[in-house]
Amino acid sequence: MTALILGLESSCDETAVALVRGDRSIVAQRIASQDEAHRPFGGVVPELAARAHAERLTPMVAEVLAEAGAALADLDAVAATAGPGLIGGVMVGLVTGKALAMAAGKPLIAVNHLEGHALSPRLVDAGLRFPYLLLLVSGGHCQLLGVEGVGRYRRLATTIDDAIGEAFDKTAKVLGLGFPGGPAVERAAREGDAHRFALPRPLLGTAEPHFSFAGLKSAVLRHWQALASPGDAERVDLAAAFQHAATDCLVDRTARAITAFPTATALVVAGGVASNVAIRTALATLAATHDLPFVAPPPWLCTDNAAMIAWAGAERLALGLTDGLDFPARARWPLDPSAEAARGAGVRA
Ligand code: KG4
Ligand code: ZN
Repeated sequence: MTALILGLESSCDETAVALVRGDRSIVAQRIASQDEAHRPFGGVVPELAARAHAERLTPMVAEVLAEAGAALADLDAVAATAGPGLIGGVMVGLVTGKALAMAAGKPLIAVNHLEGHALSPRLVDAGLRFPYLLLLVSGGHCQLLGVEGVGRYRRLATTIDDAIGEAFDKTAKVLGLGFPGGPAVERAAREGDAHRFALPRPLLGTAEPHFSFAGLKSAVLRHWQALASPGDAERVDLAAAFQHAATDCLVDRTARAITAFPTATALVVAGGVASNVAIRTALATLAATHDLPFVAPPPWLCTDNAAMIAWAGAERLALGLTDGLDFPARARWPLDPSAEAARGAGVRA
């Protein structure tokens, strides 16, 4: 039998547990969203998130093991997200992982959440080989990475201000589309006319493939506030214009990165925003024009989950990469620590 890995994820507002095998089979998994708890605040409240993880994680581990008919002794390793993310939640998941690893007498694997996203396409596509070009688009990050192997990431570009998921979430808030914002903007955009409002496409055409979304987000706010009597028609038209502009930026920047990384065997997209159908479609077209295979995980594997953490654990275990029980929880943990700050960048790694 191939290795059996228990994965835990608690870095943002999804509590998730999964049992995954090294042969890519997902034996059992649970994902508990905290949308209801955070909705009244219009965004994720870190303290509420940490408390919810603390209440739910251990019972979910018991449920997943029971569903699989597995005991702690059957595990080969415990993989837990150790960062980056909201530190309270990360600590809950990592400490739980350490306790389970101790109880099972098996190694701990401290997984970088971004590595979970980065390797997730290999969980569902056995043919995906290194190196590949990864567009990582989530609530906290927007990066282009050369994925050269497990633990070997070269950052080609990042955002100089907001992450793209953040821009989707703020646009949803401005337009009163509700929480969580990304899927709400996508639904509204389907009904709207993307050409009624002219929105900027920051950094389009610049030599380095960095991203910027702050100006686009502010433009949505300015247009909304300038309307005499904004209603549903304006709401869906602005959502469509925003999604169209954001997609244009992703495609243009990714096209630059394809040229800068000619050894890539595929164009891969991962992270929560990769569940957006318009974005997936545009990237698939881009890959086809460059004769590159396009790989996008199914939408449930794009948003936060524990199967990707267990899978990153399986990939690391296969290389003998395990961690000590003193591994610290990290609020910030760049995949490519040698990458220099992008010009004009704020604090984002
Ligand atoms: O990867 P993820 O689940 O969590 C982080 O690691 O950040 O990504 C969450 C982000 C949120 O900003 C959410 O609004 C966005 O992904 N998102 C979407 C869609 N589904 C989730 N953005 C655009 N379209 C979607 N369908
Ligand atoms: Zn994520």
